[in-house]
Amino acid sequence: MPVYAIIGGTGLTQLEGLTLDESITMDTPYGAPSAAIVKGHYAGREVLFLARHGHPHRIPPHQVNYRANIWALKQAGAEAVLAVNAVGGIHAAMESGHLCVPHQIVDYTSGRAHTFFEGDLEVVTHVDFSYPYDEPLRQRLITALQQQGYSYSSHGVYACTQGPRLETAAEIVRLERDGCDIVGMTGMPEAALAREQDLAYACLALVVNPAAGKVTGIITMAQIEQALHNGMGKVKQVLAAVLAD
Ligand code: HPA
Repeated sequence: MPVYAIIGGTGLTQLEGLTLDESITMDTPYGAPSAAIVKGHYAGREVLFLARHGHPHRIPPHQVNYRANIWALKQAGAEAVLAVNAVGGIHAAMESGHLCVPHQIVDYTSGRAHTFFEGDLEVVTHVDFSYPYDEPLRQRLITALQQQGYSYSSHGVYACTQGPRLETAAEIVRLERDGCDIVGMTGMPEAALAREQDLAYACLALVVNPAAGKVTGIITMAQIEQALHNGMGKVKQVLAAVLAD
């Protein structure tokens, strides 16, 4: 069983029930991570927890120091990363409250520090990223979702947009044409950096709103917060089931 790290996204800045054994504050060659890493036990298993947006939530998606976060987790001993991400639903099946374990990514971000391989390198490395998520880890999430009986999709293409604004309706039409099922702002470069550090990485995405233009009217923060409030309990149950497995 690998040493798991959980990266909590919007709505998951702390994990109730996680016992605190150690708070790991670290500087990295890339700067400071979003928050201290909490090392503790959850569902009877040792785990590392990091709040992607800081604790309290204060760092917007485009300003998260993804390199520092992944580097720090690796240094702290993580071997596998379970990333939790709130997303908008593009595909009709991706209704609010639905959970998805994506299998693919399309990256629409720009200007984010997205690689460890830069500067004065001895060798130029191109990591394989054909299948961006670790399949055994995805399967563990899927098994846990099955056990819990929640509505979920075992596949989905995650579109990562730059944010922090939400998309236009026309952008969502384009993303849909590109084959994307869900849209979020934090899946990249996190997944690619994890691959560069040889960390197994999978995502548990909670749909918190229909993507822009998918219903009449606008998307409100109140709507997103309500869906986060309703859905994070399920996310925590799934994570506990994966760890207890
Ligand atoms: N778009 C992008 N990111 C998101 C959304 C969305 O609709 N909902 C939650 N994160």
